[in-house]
Amino acid sequence: MHIKDRTFVISGGASGLGLATVRDLHSHGGYVAILDLNVDNGNSVVEELGDRTAFFEVDISSPPSTATAVASLVKWIQKTGKPIAGVIPAAGVGFPGKLIDRHNEPIPLENLELVLNINLRGVLDLIRLCLPHMTITTPTQPDGERGVIIMVSSSAAYDGQPGQLAYSASKGAVRSMTLVLARDLAQHGIRAVSIAPSYFESGMTAAMSGKVRKSLEGVFEFPKRPGHGSDFARLVRHIVENPMLNGECIRLDGATRMPSRL
Ligand SMILES: NC(=O)c1ccc[n+]([C@@H]2O[C@H](COP(=O)([O-])OP(=O)(O)OC[C@H]3O[C@@H](n4cnc5c(N)ncnc54)[C@H](O)[C@@H]3O)[C@@H](O)[C@H]2O)c1
Repeated sequence: MHIKDRTFVISGGASGLGLATVRDLHSHGGYVAILDLNVDNGNSVVEELGDRTAFFEVDISSPPSTATAVASLVKWIQKTGKPIAGVIPAAGVGFPGKLIDRHNEPIPLENLELVLNINLRGVLDLIRLCLPHMTITTPTQPDGERGVIIMVSSSAAYDGQPGQLAYSASKGAVRSMTLVLARDLAQHGIRAVSIAPSYFESGMTAAMSGKVRKSLEGVFEFPKRPGHGSDFARLVRHIVENPMLNGECIRLDGATRMPSRL
């Protein structure tokens, strides 16, 4: 799939891995629809990148908000005439917590719902609403491809750490969904691939304490550093461009396996 003159819908595109992807696809001639909760960041990305970008405010955990944002981005695409060729649902949150705490209290259900509604239901909802606008596009030759869905899983889908139960559940689900999505969408010429990063520098991990970050760096194999947004974005670009990548969740972790304790 070519990037130039095609639109990529990127949730969480105002920060971290989503933002790095926005910058990369835009710099290769793509149109980018940035969907995010953070209006200030979203607007400043559009201001910085200029043409071929648009920001749509969304709370991806709220179905009405997602429906409104998708309706608005579809109007934008009708104006630009550049079809949706990719959906990258990158909006996600951590929010750690064990099912039962040290006072023998079960975790509030809302804490679990918050993570699952953003990281799982929100991912499915965005893809679901974008698909009807992808299946009607003219397929590209020689393979008859229409587009690609690139989801963001995590090393927590494989080696989740203590307190990551809801997060691991959501990221494991993304990993499991990848092959099914690829099979379901094959008839439309749409691929599905997931990326499972380990510890990457982003807004999410900036919130971690210096001690935790240092410990994480200690368990890296090679390279001995956190991933950069550009490492992630480069893989997204390769997935977009390589039609044989389909139905797979790709670990992006420098061979690091997260231990139980840091
Ligand atoms: N950074 C890492 O180490 C790492 C590792 C594995 C997976 N991931 C995944 O990568 C994705 C991107 O995360 P990041 O690390 O770049 O974090 P980040 O915090 O830098 O970016 C996340 C973005 O999502 C947006 N967002 C959060 N909740 C939202 C909502 N309800 N609706 C719309 N937008 C919302 C935030 O405003 C933010 O702009 C997430 O799915 C995360 O789980 C990150």
